[in-house]
Amino acid sequence: MTRRSIGIVLNGVTGRMGYRQHLVRSLLAIREAGGLPTRDGTLWPEPVLVGRSEAKLAEIAARHGLTEWSTDLGAALARPDVSIYFDSQVTSGREKAIRQAIEAGKHIYTEKPLAETAVAATELAELAAAAGLKTGVVQDKLFLPGLRKLKRLIDGGFFGRILSVRGEFGYWVFEGDWQPAQRPSWNYRAADGGGIVMDMLPHWNYLLEELFGGVRSVQCTMATHIDTRVDEQGESYAATADDAAYAVFELAGGAVAQINSSWCVRVYRDELVEFQVDGTEGSAVAGLRHCRVQHRSMTPKPVWNPDLPNSVPFRTQWAEVPDNDEFDNGFKAQWEAFLRHVAEDGPYHWDFASGARGVRLAELALQSAREGRRLEVPRLEVPR
Ligand SMILES: NC(=O)c1ccc[n+]([C@@H]2O[C@H](COP(=O)([O-])OP(=O)(O)OC[C@H]3O[C@@H](n4cnc5c(N)ncnc54)[C@H](O)[C@@H]3O)[C@@H](O)[C@H]2O)c1
Repeated sequence: MTRRSIGIVLNGVTGRMGYRQHLVRSLLAIREAGGLPTRDGTLWPEPVLVGRSEAKLAEIAARHGLTEWSTDLGAALARPDVSIYFDSQVTSGREKAIRQAIEAGKHIYTEKPLAETAVAATELAELAAAAGLKTGVVQDKLFLPGLRKLKRLIDGGFFGRILSVRGEFGYWVFEGDWQPAQRPSWNYRAADGGGIVMDMLPHWNYLLEELFGGVRSVQCTMATHIDTRVDEQGESYAATADDAAYAVFELAGGAVAQINSSWCVRVYRDELVEFQVDGTEGSAVAGLRHCRVQHRSMTPKPVWNPDLPNSVPFRTQWAEVPDNDEFDNGFKAQWEAFLRHVAEDGPYHWDFASGARGVRLAELALQSAREGRRLEVPRLEVPR
């Protein structure tokens, strides 16, 4: 079988997501598996690492036996052997670099959020469409085993009519004083593109849209619970961005979703994100890996009586949904779909238009929180 190289500029590869999930767990994992089989032979990703620090890029390249790296994005994009630009930089650096990639005529795949504002995200979608480029935005949560099992239940009609979705996302992010923070400090500075609304609402938009129906309205309350944190250099700084968001969404089809997202919450759950879905015929609780169900026929009949201790072991009354499948790393699975989309025009709909809808929902949630009111979500028409 013939092997065809496909050059991919990876910008932001020294970061958490760029290095671990996209380079190591996706593109290098595809190479370790012998490349990606396609209709016209095997596709071989050829990373061109791009970033600000020569020393860091050289070190990563050497660690993984790679030879192509540069601190000059323009030069990397000008290479004729490069077909795809990938961006996992800090969010505030993304728009400018994507505009450069569109001008260079490269297909584009990017981390979310697509841009810092809905206007910018929509414009990027329009420019890329006008230039005939293929685009993609990371929507990794759709590929989590727990959520794939949840989707399977929905497709199989398990729930009957879906009434409500309740999501809990979050964990305690250390302030950085007596224990180092486990997230980068720019996440907590508004001026640097931080904030949990812009970080998480784009995820909730595609998740709700694909599983339950598009978001028709949003009402959000947000907070900056911790107002001082300590950065990577040990310096104290003012945390100006929102670190918790409590949002209610009305969905097409009539279900209501409530999702709490917080970096200031201690976990008393089985997983870092969990969604409870209640339907007329049954309910499910899905997380990253697990999905548990309770059918209507197995539903207990609790009676409210605070004078008696609870005698019903509620948690044990749910059944685990079997995998019945092999679930690969979600980032890798989406990379494979995007590479097939570029190489053989395979189906793919997690594009810039979808990414722009995610940014628009985040922006409306911020506005809803500022103005203290519920906002309708207008339709967003972006040509493909
Ligand atoms: N899909 C997901 O689940 C997920 C999870 C976390 C983050 N993200 C997204 O991935 C992107 C990167 O997040 P991360 O957590 O990897 O961040 P990070 O801080 O670990 O990495 C940021 C990268 O951007 C580069 N960079 C360029 N300009 C910079 C600047 N001015 N200041 C600081 N760094 C700069 C850094 O060198 C580094 O390579 C963000 O857009 C974020 O929203 C996605």
